[in-house]
Amino acid sequence: MAEPNLPETDTNPAPPAAVAPPAPPKPVTPAKPVAAAKKAVEPTRRNFLVSSGLTTVLALFGSWFAVAWTTFTLSMLGMVLGTVRFMFPNVLTEPPSSFKAGDWTNFEDNKVDDKFKEVGAWIIRGKDDSGRDIIYALSTTCTHLGCTPNWLESEKKFKCPCHGSGFKITGINFEGPAPRPLERYAIRRSEDGQIVVDKSRKFQKELEQWNDPDSYVLV
Ligand code: FES
Repeated sequence: MAEPNLPETDTNPAPPAAVAPPAPPKPVTPAKPVAAAKKAVEPTRRNFLVSSGLTTVLALFGSWFAVAWTTFTLSMLGMVLGTVRFMFPNVLTEPPSSFKAGDWTNFEDNKVDDKFKEVGAWIIRGKDDSGRDIIYALSTTCTHLGCTPNWLESEKKFKCPCHGSGFKITGINFEGPAPRPLERYAIRRSEDGQIVVDKSRKFQKELEQWNDPDSYVLV
């Protein structure tokens, strides 16, 4: 059997090529970054002036802007609070102007009931100008300058401690600087016999208002 034609092989192979030793690393050149960086960072006089001027402008503008906004916010807050305050006005807790003074039979003739002085009234059973038996309520406010007189049972008179004005049991002034009688309050007898005083209505003798039947209760 014939052998195939094979290419001729070199029986003397060439010696391996010599491997060159690795080149030594290049020495690193020391940089001069510090000086360069310094140069880059160091502000020039011009830069300094520009940046400081800009900073000043920003600071001023910023502060005025902040002041304006703060003022505006406070104003708006005040308006809101004012509106809320308007929606909830003061509530005055005043005592009721009307009160019940008890059964009419509790009042003795020619006597002053001092129990209601704290609420501003004396309840009295006495006689009117025509001699009729009546119950009436006198205000405890002196008609001179508004002090509160005292009832002196032994002397049968109201005496004001401020300037000495005196009032009879009827309320008519007779001594001191008081220019006119004490005032009466509206009074009525309810269906169950209770005496009801209404301080919201007043009657003055000098105006002939004591003739009004609402200013007394006939007994
Ligand atoms: Fe009553 Fe002056 S206030 S006498």
